[in-house]
Amino acid sequence: ALTVRHTFNVGNLRLNRLCKNQVITAVNGGLPGPTIVAQDGDTLVVRVNNISPYNVTIHWHGVFQLMSAWADGPEYITQCPIRPGQSFTYRFNVTRQEGTLLWHAHFKALRTTVHGALIIRPARGRTYPFPTPFFEIPIVLGEWWNANIMDVEEEAVSTGRPPNMSNALTINGQPGDLYPCSSANTVRFTLVRGKTYLLRIINAALNTPLFFKIANHKFTVVAVDASYTDPYDSDVLVIAPGQTVDALMTADQALRRYYMAASAHVVPPLAPYVNISTTAIVSYLGAAPLSPPLMPAMPGARDSDTAHAFLSNLTGLTSSPHWTPVPLEIEERMFVTVGLGLVPGPCDTPTGVCSGPGGQRLAASMNNVSFELPERLSIMEAYVNNVSGIYTADFPDNPPVTFDYTNPSNQQNPALMGTARGTRVKVFKYNATVEMVFQNTAVLSSDDHPMHLHGLNFYVVAQGFGNYNPQTDAANFNLVNPQERNTVVVPAFGWVVIRFRANNPGVWFVHCHIDAHVPWGLSNAFIIENGPTPDTTLPPPPSDLPKC
Ligand code: C2O
Repeated sequence: ALTVRHTFNVGNLRLNRLCKNQVITAVNGGLPGPTIVAQDGDTLVVRVNNISPYNVTIHWHGVFQLMSAWADGPEYITQCPIRPGQSFTYRFNVTRQEGTLLWHAHFKALRTTVHGALIIRPARGRTYPFPTPFFEIPIVLGEWWNANIMDVEEEAVSTGRPPNMSNALTINGQPGDLYPCSSANTVRFTLVRGKTYLLRIINAALNTPLFFKIANHKFTVVAVDASYTDPYDSDVLVIAPGQTVDALMTADQALRRYYMAASAHVVPPLAPYVNISTTAIVSYLGAAPLSPPLMPAMPGARDSDTAHAFLSNLTGLTSSPHWTPVPLEIEERMFVTVGLGLVPGPCDTPTGVCSGPGGQRLAASMNNVSFELPERLSIMEAYVNNVSGIYTADFPDNPPVTFDYTNPSNQQNPALMGTARGTRVKVFKYNATVEMVFQNTAVLSSDDHPMHLHGLNFYVVAQGFGNYNPQTDAANFNLVNPQERNTVVVPAFGWVVIRFRANNPGVWFVHCHIDAHVPWGLSNAFIIENGPTPDTTLPPPPSDLPKC
């Protein structure tokens, strides 16, 4: 195994998109930032120099961080932020996983522009569990705002209303030629007819689940979230924020030009980009250079049948060298509601009245707890040093009231929406086997919630619509070859059941990867205690860990 070294200079730069200049914060002057390529078992050493005006941390989304939780990155969970002018070096191994992940800032909404691909190839001497592709193509999907994203978020949080939506979707930082002033910089890929490509697709968008297609072409999905899947054929890919898909695609169509396109799934009907896909041009070598590219027919923005079919048909590749069996004996069972609500003001507006529905402020919660980051010290430092007053270890295993979670007539019922802010975390014994039902609530609105767990992958053993029913739904669990993920979509009006083994000591953020829901409280932290041996004990923090 080798050591892969990078230096990330996080700073501001001016870019022109959609006919406008905008100052953004980015890494090494690029959007997206640098692609990190490693092999299973390598050590990554990334020095982060913060020359931006904001605090920053970097999270290696989906990397297990086995025994290296100090390098995980979420602000006030495992570290205090790197202040402007300061540096911190992240050191960790990538091990027991292969495929495509992403790295991104984990300070407020900064990940909008501070992100990039993280690719883990098989260890030296090993091969992919599929025919070696001719070429690999990283594709980072994102969003572009015609405003400073930190101001957008600040304004939304202080007034209690939803944040302004982005002005465009992007492929590798470019909106593509269906948006104004974008055609000259549309991303282009050249393919050789007859060859098979490995597309490594990342949804780095802030708030938008996406559909992805290439006109006339079919994909074979081989991995999601850097876990191999059984090969799954589809002409559309469905990718929520924080998820990745590795898909093979053979250039087996006529010599011409095609659009690659991503479009929004589950967005409010008035989103500026709702009817505009981001596009890149896929040209076959030898195709007429100026011929109009063929556009794929994209699914509609609320096509949850297409999304559910894709997401529920995937299965894990049990012959993968990294496969471990699904836990069958469960020690900890939890039922966790995830959803949005409203809480009374006051807000930071001229009148003190909030700008959310009914003059209230938007909130979000897990089991009616709206999680609050401590902002005085990271939870992991408080945990290992026994500092009191930072968090309490009393996150409830069940919601406070049971009701018909998916009945829209519950909307705006204050008794169901009332959430309490708090830093109430859940503690797991080392190696505990856990089953967690995530039940989406339709109390305020019906969004998908892509729930992301740091530090661990989990198995998605079942998913469905309506209220989860332990009597009937448990009979249909896939305990043989479920897909393994770090981010799972809890569908609007539906639920998912995950299982995992709590075998990585540390403090792990768990949250909705729709970024707007995080400051409203749709998050929590899971503490996993040390195991019995030195190699299952969290090491001390690195000496340059930023101070609060
Ligand atoms: Cu990709 Cu905590 O996030």
